[in-house]
Amino acid sequence: MDLAIRLDSDAPVPLHRQVYEELRRAILTGRLSKGKRIPSTRALAKSLGISRTTVTVAYEQLLSEGYLETTVGSGTFVCCQLPDELLNSAAINSFHKESHPPVQLSNYGAILANTEIPYYQEPNLPISFRYGQPSIDQFPLKLWRKLLSRHCSANLDWLNYPTDAGGYQPLREAIACYLSRSRAVQCEPDQIIITSGSQQALDLVTRLLIAPGDGIALEEPGYPGARYTFLTQGAKLYPVAVDESGLVIEKLTNYSKKSLKLIYVTPSHQFPTGAVLSLPRRLELLVWAKKMGIMIIEDDYDSEYRYGERPIPGLQGLDHSNSVLYIGTFSKMLFPSLRIGYLVVPQHLVSLLTRAKWLTDRHSPLLEQKVLVDFLNEGHLESYIRRMRTHYNQLRQILVQTLKTYFDQRVTILGEKAGIHLMVRLKTKLSDEEIIHRAAEVGVSMVTAQPYYLKNKPKGEFIFGYAQLSSAQIQEGIGKLALAIVE
Ligand SMILES: Cc1ncc(COP(=O)(O)O)c(C=O)c1O
Repeated sequence: MDLAIRLDSDAPVPLHRQVYEELRRAILTGRLSKGKRIPSTRALAKSLGISRTTVTVAYEQLLSEGYLETTVGSGTFVCCQLPDELLNSAAINSFHKESHPPVQLSNYGAILANTEIPYYQEPNLPISFRYGQPSIDQFPLKLWRKLLSRHCSANLDWLNYPTDAGGYQPLREAIACYLSRSRAVQCEPDQIIITSGSQQALDLVTRLLIAPGDGIALEEPGYPGARYTFLTQGAKLYPVAVDESGLVIEKLTNYSKKSLKLIYVTPSHQFPTGAVLSLPRRLELLVWAKKMGIMIIEDDYDSEYRYGERPIPGLQGLDHSNSVLYIGTFSKMLFPSLRIGYLVVPQHLVSLLTRAKWLTDRHSPLLEQKVLVDFLNEGHLESYIRRMRTHYNQLRQILVQTLKTYFDQRVTILGEKAGIHLMVRLKTKLSDEEIIHRAAEVGVSMVTAQPYYLKNKPKGEFIFGYAQLSSAQIQEGIGKLALAIVE
């Protein structure tokens, strides 16, 4: 029996896959009927002019999927038990199922489908000022490995479901102590819920508190990770301006008549401008939120890194009315792929948020939580932060100095007193796209601040992450950028 099979030796799909797909289609469309004998691998290989191994691989796949069956001594046949409804159906005429009927999306799905989320897809360039990466090559890997193996070789309970979705109790205790020491956050360990980074904390809180149409005030410019979480839950967004002392509270109170349910702020180090919310404004914000009955999300994502100034206590520690939901993360303190963050919530929300966490992903990985307990309790976290503060401070000074040297009056630097990035305003006639393009041509990757604005997007503002670079790379990168965009 001859079998007409179309093969394209120039196609990117391997030949055995093409044979498999052609035979499968022939069976499903009835061209090869149930029980029909098909050629031997040798015969088909010969008639198609391809190797027998190629045909054998295709046959084995069809045999393992049940399209074919063999009878010892008599050959290979199309399986007799293929269900009729599978055969000749319209959908199988296209192997790639292009004709799938449209899916009815949820409210969330529909918003997501209509929203372009600019998660960062970075070109692979030698020097990247991408924001958000800590310096991973300084991480004490040996120590981490030692702690990991300590817990791997001890009892095996970390392999099982843990008993508490809210997090490993010793870790909650260690975080409560750390936060009280370093951020003046006041809480009992059971008010802490361990999450998969800040992002999950934002997601859980939003799902719990926000119904479609509810208003959320947020900083302008601000953190897209929060904005898109709010947006996809159907929230109405009310941007509030930021100046050198952080969120402008006067502008916020203009919104008092609208039904604001939440306020999202990054008071320790406003993202992305780097402003620190002044103490008077913190107090004003708390008083106003209490009066209006509005909850505040305090995102304290990189407050560990402050240079030369004493930290201002977190909003949570200043609040006496249970208005603050505090979010922290180890993404910047340690490394982002750890995916461990935490929420500190008023007692009356603990149970609900724990249930929400359980429904979302059961719990965060136990082994890493155990390792973190030792990392915190044995003092490694704080000594690592001290060391990194010195390291980042040096890089920051070099970046500021190099920017000033090359751009002089044409640069304004914002938010240099904290964190692991700067915001930079460049005076130039070039568009942001042109700057990014010219920088890329000399091997430098830049991030425009435009996506961080909800409304009027200014030109010439860039975010410079520096933690992942060496001093030499910073100097080289800024030097190349200056030459590339000279007008
Ligand atoms: C404002 C802000 N919050 C939180 C995070 C960290 O998010 P995660 O803990 O999910 O890594 C970032 C990181 O870029 C951030 O910029």
